[in-house]
Amino acid sequence: MEKINLENIKIEPFSIKHIEEVTTIHSQVLDGWSMKSLIGDLANDSTASYVAVYDGKPVAFCSFVVTDDAELVFICTHQAYRGQGIASKLLMDSIVLELPVGITRVVLEVRSKNEAAISLYEKHNFVKLGVRKNFYSSPADDAIVMELYKDGAKELD
Ligand SMILES: CC(C)(COP(=O)(O)OP(=O)(O)OC[C@H]1O[C@@H](n2cnc3c(N)ncnc32)[C@H](O)[C@@H]1OP(=O)(O)O)[C@@H](O)C(=O)NCCC(=O)NCCS
Repeated sequence: MEKINLENIKIEPFSIKHIEEVTTIHSQVLDGWSMKSLIGDLANDSTASYVAVYDGKPVAFCSFVVTDDAELVFICTHQAYRGQGIASKLLMDSIVLELPVGITRVVLEVRSKNEAAISLYEKHNFVKLGVRKNFYSSPADDAIVMELYKDGAKELD
């Protein structure tokens, strides 16, 4: 694993120049994910996506659907860069610095067995709202619904 200094991580809005690396990051967790779906996201006005860039290359990606609230629909760090605080930085800088100022609340659903993601969200003050039983398939799992009010969110030091 390559050790990185978080000060050298830059958060940027996702754009077409990131597409190859972000497709690689997606394919590490989502079977059958295509570059075409990501290009669709870029063209969608209600989607706001951000990348953590290290040494000129995206190493993590997150995406929100923005309406009255923002819904975090995906966050992923490249396998070779996990466990170094990159998802924390990407998530919180995106929420605090990048999302439109009018957005006050972020919601999300997460697989109940995804301990790493739940721990990431709890670390940043997301609170559990409830459970959607059998929400996911392949494999079957419940969804934990969580929320964060932006005034409870803090930018990372
Ligand atoms: C969840 C994920 C995005 C975390 O990325 P990361 O860059 O490794 O996370 P960070 O290093 O910023 O970790 C921040 C916190 O997340 C939690 N966390 C991260 N990896 C963890 C693990 N393997 N086990 C338990 N908690 C973990 C911890 O609370 C950690 O804080 P700590 O370092 O003080 O203990 C990453 O594991 C991933 O890409 N998973 C696959 C995609 C996914 O499941 N996305 C979420 C649903 S869309």
